[in-house]
Amino acid sequence: MRLLVTGGCGFIGANFLYAMRERHPDWRLVNLDKLTYAGNLGSLRALEAEAGDAYAFVHGDICDKGLVSRLLVEERIEAVVNFAAESHVDRSIEDAAPFVSTNVLGAQTILDCARRAGVGRVVHVSTDEVYGSLGPTGQFLETTPLAPNSPYSASKAGADLLARACHETYGQDVVVTRCSNNYGPYQFPEKLIPLMYVKAARGEALPVYGDGRNVRDWIFVDDHCRGVELALLHGRPGAVYNFGGAAEMPNIEVVRAILRLTGRDDTLIRFVTDRPGHDRRYAMNFDLAARELGFAPSVSFSQGLERTIAWYQANPAWLEEVQSGAYLTFMQSWYKGRA
Ligand code: NAD
Ligand code: DAU
Repeated sequence: MRLLVTGGCGFIGANFLYAMRERHPDWRLVNLDKLTYAGNLGSLRALEAEAGDAYAFVHGDICDKGLVSRLLVEERIEAVVNFAAESHVDRSIEDAAPFVSTNVLGAQTILDCARRAGVGRVVHVSTDEVYGSLGPTGQFLETTPLAPNSPYSASKAGADLLARACHETYGQDVVVTRCSNNYGPYQFPEKLIPLMYVKAARGEALPVYGDGRNVRDWIFVDDHCRGVELALLHGRPGAVYNFGGAAEMPNIEVVRAILRLTGRDDTLIRFVTDRPGHDRRYAMNFDLAARELGFAPSVSFSQGLERTIAWYQANPAWLEEVQSGAYLTFMQSWYKGRA
C-alpha cells in the first residue's frame, strides 16, 4: 500500500509510522507534517535511517490544497490516515484559531483532495472528547450525540461531521475513529502523564486541576495504533469506531502512580485552579470495534505506565529537545495564574 500519514511527527503519528513499518515492510509511507511546536523530526530518526525508499517526509501544511493534491497524485497514494491536528485542550482555551484552521479546514482539505484524486480510503482520527462529558455512570457509544465542550473538541467534532457528509453526499470511503486518552513514548510533555513525569523527575510541584477526580479512560498508544490500522484495513466505509483502553482512572490516581514510579511522595501534589469547561468523565464503549474489527486493548494501565516512564527515563535528550522556546512560553503563561 502507498499510504499518506499526516501529523506523523507528533506523538501518535510517530508511533503509528513505526508500527506500520514493522508490520508492513512492503508499504510506502509518506509523512506530511507542518512541524508545529508539537512536531518533532527527531522522533523519527530511527525510521528515517532504516527505511530507505519505503519512507518519505514532506514538510507542509494539510491546509495547503495545492501541496496536498500534488502529493496524492505524484505519490499515487491509495489511502490517507489523518492524524494532523492541534491537540491540546488548554491551548485551545487560550486561542481557538489554529484549531479551527488545522482541525476543520485542514481535515476538509484532506477529504476533498483525496476524493478528487481518487484515493481509496481516508481514515480520519478523532477523539472521545466530541461526545462531551459523562456523569458517574455510563459509556460513550458511536451513536451518543456530539456535545463538545472545548474549542479543541468542537473543532474535532466539526471535522467528524464533514467526514460524515463526504460519505453521505459523495459516497466517499471515509472511516472515523474516536479514541480515549493515549499515553506512551514520544508524547509531548504538555499532556498529563509526560508533564507529571517531568515535574516529578525534577522534584517540582505537580499541578492537578480542580479536585483531581476527573476521570479519563487511558489507552497505551500501541493499542490505539492497532485500532487505526484495523480501521484502515477492515473498516466499513462511512463507519465510526470507538477505541478505549478499558482503564478508567481519576487523575489523582494517575499522578500518584507516577510519583511511586519515580520514587517521589505525594507532598509534591498541588491542587490548582481548574481548567475552564473541564469534562468530568470519559468512558468508551468499543463493542462495535471489537465485533467488526477484532479490536481489543492488550496493554494494562500498570504495564503501560511502567513502560512509558521507563522510556522517558531512558530518553532525556528527546525530552530536552522538545522543551523549546515556544513550549516554555505557553507553559509559563498557562500555569502562572493557576498556582
Ligand atoms: P500531537 O499534537 O502530538 O501531534 C500533532 C502533529 O500534527 C504534530 O506533528 C504537528 O506538527 C502536526 N500538525 C499540526 N498542524 C498541522 C498542519 N496544519 N499540517 C500538517 N501537520 C500538522 O497530537 P497527537 O496526540 O499525536 O494526536 C494525533 C491525532 O489523534 C489528533 O488528531 C488528535 O486529535 C487525535 N487523538 C489524540 C488523542 C491523545 O490522547 N493524544 C486521543 C484521541 C485522538
Ligand atoms: O480523550 C482524548 C483526548 O485526550 C485527546 O483528544 C486530546 O488530544 C488529548 O490531549 C487528551 O485530552 P485531555 O484534555 O484529556 O488530556 P490532558 O493530558 O491535557 O489532561 C488529562 C487530564 O489531566 C484532564 O482531566 C486534565 C488533567 N490535567 C492536565 C494537565 C496538563 C491536570 O490535572 N493537570 C495538568 O497540568
